[in-house]
Amino acid sequence: MRTSHTAFLVLIILPYLGTGGAQSKFTSIISFGDSYTDTATAVLCWTSSRMLLGLPFVPPYLADRKANFSGGVDFAVVGAPALNLTYLQGQNMTVNPPINSSLDDQLVWFEKLKPSLCKGQGANCFGSTLFVMGALGTNDHFSFLSSNRTVEQARAYVPTIVDSISRGVERLIQHGAKYVVVADMVPFGCLPIVLTLFASKDKADYDRYGCLKLAKAPQYQNYLLRQRIKVLQNKYPSTMIISAEYYRPIISFLHMPTHFGFNSSTTLLTCCGAGGPPYNFDSSTFCGLPGVMACARPSEALQWDGVHLTEAAYRLIADGWLHGPYADPPILHVAH
Ligand SMILES: *[C@@H]1O[C@H](CO)[C@@H](O)[C@H](O)[C@H]1NC(C)=O
Ligand SMILES: *[C@@H]1O[C@H](CO)[C@@H](O)[C@H](O)[C@H]1NC(C)=O
Ligand SMILES: *[C@@H]1O[C@H](CO)[C@@H](O)[C@H](O)[C@H]1NC(C)=O
Ligand SMILES: *[C@@H]1O[C@H](CO)[C@@H](O)[C@H](O)[C@H]1NC(C)=O
Ligand SMILES: *[C@@H]1O[C@H](CO)[C@@H](O)[C@H](O)[C@H]1NC(C)=O
Ligand SMILES: *[C@@H]1O[C@H](CO)[C@@H](O)[C@H](O)[C@H]1NC(C)=O
Repeated sequence: MRTSHTAFLVLIILPYLGTGGAQSKFTSIISFGDSYTDTATAVLCWTSSRMLLGLPFVPPYLADRKANFSGGVDFAVVGAPALNLTYLQGQNMTVNPPINSSLDDQLVWFEKLKPSLCKGQGANCFGSTLFVMGALGTNDHFSFLSSNRTVEQARAYVPTIVDSISRGVERLIQHGAKYVVVADMVPFGCLPIVLTLFASKDKADYDRYGCLKLAKAPQYQNYLLRQRIKVLQNKYPSTMIISAEYYRPIISFLHMPTHFGFNSSTTLLTCCGAGGPPYNFDSSTFCGLPGVMACARPSEALQWDGVHLTEAAYRLIADGWLHGPYADPPILHVAH
């Protein structure tokens, strides 16, 4: 999914830049993934910059490769898949640009930057770095479905996606990572872009929240990923692997919208979009283009631009990652 959400990220970050925070053991965040990671990093830093983790804004690597990365670096790229270009092309998949920005590519960028990140730091270079791996998988599934694969065919790639994420985590551990947050996959079938582009005439393809079931591929990926995290945690006891969730909180928002402050009649409607109900999503009239307006009360909306959630939703998720219940263990439990 190629979308610009820079405006959204800046919107979250800007008012909070430059505000100091309490000390935590983390001095930097290094993150990998797709645009959800971009935002997660933003939200974590934003929530924290006032009081929690005490970290500055994390600059994106691709925006300026010579930026000051002493507080961390964000390698995540909008549209990035977990699977690399060679693999996807080998499977005859349509690959949406930007290409060569997969997790494997991001890890290569990290390895290139490592000497400068670790300059003068000694052996324990990443001892106080919080690594964030994911969300990943959404763009792979987008690629499979855009390549006219059936949902069952798409589901068959899930173990390969989980292998790729798992290999990525191991690679970070081999570079000295001591704290790795591994995020699960969002309920892909609840995103307005997916609901619009892959709409089905068969009611049985939708769940009770109105989301596309997609052969339960996101649930399957999250299940396999959780199993894999347990295996990795046993294999590498001196690294803390934190399993973080997007899936469960988003389903909770859909299940009890008003409990979380959302308007129950707009949970599947794009706030900043066009085209009207049921999803208010039109890929040619994307949020950010002239004339595309945000809804009247974004703080009561769940879906921002058809691909990403609203600030209100990210704030709740970030809070659940920091304090629980959406991270195991909660990040703040290991931060001090
Ligand atoms: C980089 O940022 C850190 C704070 O995160 C600061 O202490 C340091 O002086 C900066 N380095 C340069 C070269 O600007
Ligand atoms: C590309 O992905 C495949 C399958 O996940 C993997 O076997 C291969 O090593 C990857 N290539 C690179 C250069 O990372
Ligand atoms: C990809 O397409 C080529 C040419 O049609 C075909 O020979 C090959 O078997 C396909 N590969 C896969 C994995 O489907
Ligand atoms: C993508 O990466 C592959 C492998 O490194 C390379 O062969 C290819 O030229 C790259 N494509 C682009 C457009 O950069
Ligand atoms: C997928 O199928 C649609 C409708 O049959 C067709 O228009 C489109 O070109 C196909 N896309 C690919 C990548 O095969
Ligand atoms: C929820 O949104 C609908 C559609 O925009 C609106 O008509 C309704 O007044 C909103 N409900 C509340 C409680 O704000």
